Amino acid sequence: MLYDLKQIGAHYRKVIEAKTDEFYERFDPFILDKRPMVRELVRKTFERNFPDKVPVLLDVGCGTCFYFPLLAQHAERLMGVDVCIPMLDVAQELIAAKQLGNCTVRESSAMELPFEDQSIDVVHSWDFLHHVPDVNKAIAEVHRVLKPGGRYVAVEPNVLNPSIAWYHARRRAEWGLIKGKNQFFLPRALRRKFDVDIRYDNTIISFLNERTKGLWKAVDGFTSFWPTKYLRFRYMMDCVKRA
Ligand SMILES: C[S@@+](CC[C@H](N)C(=O)[O-])C[C@H]1O[C@@H](n2cnc3c(N)ncnc32)[C@H](O)[C@@H]1O
Repeated sequence: MLYDLKQIGAHYRKVIEAKTDEFYERFDPFILDKRPMVRELVRKTFERNFPDKVPVLLDVGCGTCFYFPLLAQHAERLMGVDVCIPMLDVAQELIAAKQLGNCTVRESSAMELPFEDQSIDVVHSWDFLHHVPDVNKAIAEVHRVLKPGGRYVAVEPNVLNPSIAWYHARRRAEWGLIKGKNQFFLPRALRRKFDVDIRYDNTIISFLNERTKGLWKAVDGFTSFWPTKYLRFRYMMDCVKRA
């Protein structure tokens, strides 16, 4: 049984309130300051994904917004939505501490986005889609709020990478990935409304530090070929809205 929306909110509330290891490894809003390697990987990802400044950029399932200090540099206006209020409280603290004047966050489900039709230039999500109970509904909402020709850039974990599969298999809240919300299903769902391009890459957040960087570099080297690139940690779906 997969988590429903209420259970997802409750799970992430626990991560924040109990300050579990998962919080410090994955959701710490200041992780980019603490882990220069992570910062560099995320910086490169955004530079590749958003070479031109986006007028209005929406991040769905934004969580603690740990990447907003970098993502905000690629947008004139950056907005985040999430169902978990404690996550958003942490995000507000980050936005204030870093004085990110072009960023705002608000509570909302991706199933019912509080935005007008065709009002957003680019929608971005990071490790979000595999949590969503009704993927088709979330995709329809993203499609609705995007301007004609707008982009949806979805970053997701790669189930074929053994460490990613193991991480997700051990956490019930992450079983969506194992049970099909992965690169074998999500692109098919997106292609009904978008033209989709898929790229694999080795951007990771959890467990990348000075001690593990040798291992990361070995994996990066090993996965720099075809077909081993399909074992990289993440994949990104770059989607362009069809009329
Ligand atoms: C793995 S976290 C990722 C958070 C952030 N994007 C990051 O990478 O750190 C998934 C987030 O999606 C949010 N979420 C899940 N389902 C949602 C929905 N239907 N609408 C809005 N947010 C949702 C959760 O509350 C959680 O904060």
